[in-house]
Amino acid sequence: MEHDEKPLLTVLSGRRVNPPPVWFMRQAGRYLPEYRAVRARARSFLDLCYTPDLAVEVTLQPIRRFALDAAILFSDILVIPHALGAAVKFNEREGPQLDPVTDGAGLARLDPARLHERLAPVYETVRRLRSALPEHVTLIGFAGAPWTLAAYLVEGRGSKEFLQPRLLARRDPSLFAALMELLTEAVIEFLSAQIAAGAEALQLFDSWAGVLPESELRRWCLAPARRIVAALRERHPHVPVILFPRGVGASLTLFASDTGARALSLDTGVPMAWAAAELDREAGLALQGNLDPVALLGPEADLLEEAGAILRAAASRPHIFNLGHGILPATPPERVEALVRYLKSGGE
Ligand code: CP3
Repeated sequence: MEHDEKPLLTVLSGRRVNPPPVWFMRQAGRYLPEYRAVRARARSFLDLCYTPDLAVEVTLQPIRRFALDAAILFSDILVIPHALGAAVKFNEREGPQLDPVTDGAGLARLDPARLHERLAPVYETVRRLRSALPEHVTLIGFAGAPWTLAAYLVEGRGSKEFLQPRLLARRDPSLFAALMELLTEAVIEFLSAQIAAGAEALQLFDSWAGVLPESELRRWCLAPARRIVAALRERHPHVPVILFPRGVGASLTLFASDTGARALSLDTGVPMAWAAAELDREAGLALQGNLDPVALLGPEADLLEEAGAILRAAASRPHIFNLGHGILPATPPERVEALVRYLKSGGE
């Protein structure tokens, strides 16, 4: 089988690879001077996401520098709200800003009719990447999970608490459910089109799952994840999905059983040894993670020691080495280089 040659796909099929494949969330980004140079040429961050020449270039930058096993499509989770017609802006200082959706009129302004038309440049980027990447490198597509997208849409901006969406879900559950329904369908459409364009694996980012208690988590994160994986499996049975429900702690066990996911990405707060022992209900479920991104800013010896501890804790499982969250802009590229070299030499 073709994908036996790609270490990341082997692990996602449920088998261990030694040393484990490695990629990093936000491996393309501001910590790389060559990214900042391309970013300066684009008028806005969204223009960068929607210009295939530039998006292909920045996706490939970390692949050229480091011996990584996967490239993640350069885009953003907020292209879905944007393609549904929400105004989305990325502010240099304050992060993303959106027209908040707070009522039925706000919901009615979201229109899926032009979704694929607006996202066509993203699909074009995927197509070009697939032919540009080295043979052993897996192309990962992605989307934001419906809850995290709804969180940004209702709050209208980034937040530590996301109080507005949490309140809306309790005060007007039928409005909130209608918003979630629209987003869930859009995510399925977006990910299916990425597969059709050449994505070989997918990651669903539920970055703000951790603000919900269990009952809400089941309704707004777990159920949509199940539905998305099932819909994709029906259309594209061989494309594995990685779930990243960030910050959910012991509720990770819910995502490990009967979701159809092939891997769970662990955030920094989850002890890898606990995950390796407890999250085994889906046969061959792989674990991804989960080095603290801040470790890349500290002394190299400590960094390698922490990475080694993760390798040992995950030794019984199919494992994909990654961070517990995205690379920070202040990360020295030399540290990333040293980490990848260490991992590729077998953690010695
Ligand atoms: O290399 C990769 O990982 C692929 C590209 C990628 C980006 N964002 C590029 C980006 C991916 C997979 C994302 C996902 C994303 N975007 C998430 C989920 C993962 C997570 O971090 O929890 C979220 C929540 C977003 C929303 C988002 N996009 C925020 C909150 C911000 C502002 C914060 C920041 O770091 O500036 C962005 C902007 C963004 N997305 C940048 C990049 C490289 C920086 C913007 C710039 O270059 O000007």
